[in-house]
Amino acid sequence: MNLDGFGRVAIVTGAAQGLGKSIAFELLEDGKRVVFVDINFEGLKAIQEKEIAGEYKKNALFLKVDVRNREDIFECVEKVLDHWGRIDILVNNAGIRKETQIDDITDEEWELLLSVNLTGTFKFSQAVIQTMRDQQWGRIINISSYAGQSGPLTSGAHYSASKAGQLALTKVFARELAKDHITVNAIAPAVVKSPEMEKMDKEKMNEIIDTIPIGRIGEKVEVSKLVLYLSSEFAIYITGATFDINGGLLMR
Ligand SMILES: NC(=O)c1ccc[n+]([C@@H]2O[C@H](COP(=O)([O-])OP(=O)(O)OC[C@H]3O[C@@H](n4cnc5c(N)ncnc54)[C@H](O)[C@@H]3O)[C@@H](O)[C@H]2O)c1
Repeated sequence: MNLDGFGRVAIVTGAAQGLGKSIAFELLEDGKRVVFVDINFEGLKAIQEKEIAGEYKKNALFLKVDVRNREDIFECVEKVLDHWGRIDILVNNAGIRKETQIDDITDEEWELLLSVNLTGTFKFSQAVIQTMRDQQWGRIINISSYAGQSGPLTSGAHYSASKAGQLALTKVFARELAKDHITVNAIAPAVVKSPEMEKMDKEKMNEIIDTIPIGRIGEKVEVSKLVLYLSSEFAIYITGATFDINGGLLMR
């Protein structure tokens, strides 16, 4: 069911796999027009060729974008506006996780994680807000992490810092854009099944699961359904909030 009555336009970053792909399909299935954005164009092409059929063909766009690169972002925004004339929803999901210990984090690795996870969120949000202001309607949803609230669980200092930064950006953008009917919220999952998390050591994963009150890791759909709600008309009174999806690992 399309809650808004017409096909709102959503951009989902990091949509070639994992959580981003699941979120993009959730929005598509709801009747929204969806831009799948990723640096991995092969991954996007595979989705376009093998998983998109019927009426989804006209409702899905696939664009190669490096969220670190302002030119890529502006080109993407221009293409979407040329194609569909509006941008209603931005999901800042593209991210990189590394587990490197503090002593071993190089300048390059620090810069990489901060520039994708945090600066990418800032630059993409900055690039769409004028369109959302002109529409007097917008939803920005930042996929942060438990690591940004409580420190590392499956990641290093750079990852945690970038994810905490996303939570701060969420509040800054939310406060400034509320008057223009643009809401900005964050989701903070702990561990959710994705190609990235499948790389984790099984023993370490079982140790983590033992600490989660609900006794398992999360499913992608449990995140994508929340994104769908936050991007709907009904969520207009929610802004600047962080939603924990962590099986009870952090209660606050
Ligand atoms: N899976 C989890 O347990 C979990 C937990 C907490 C937070 N998160 C967050 O959710 C998001 C998605 O996680 P996931 O597990 O699905 O990860 P993933 O690695 O499976 O997918 C991330 C996607 O981002 C893309 N990407 C990376 N760098 C990019 C760039 N510069 N420009 C554009 N795209 C880029 C990758 O190509 C990939 O398709 C991330 O922000 C992650 O930090 C995930």
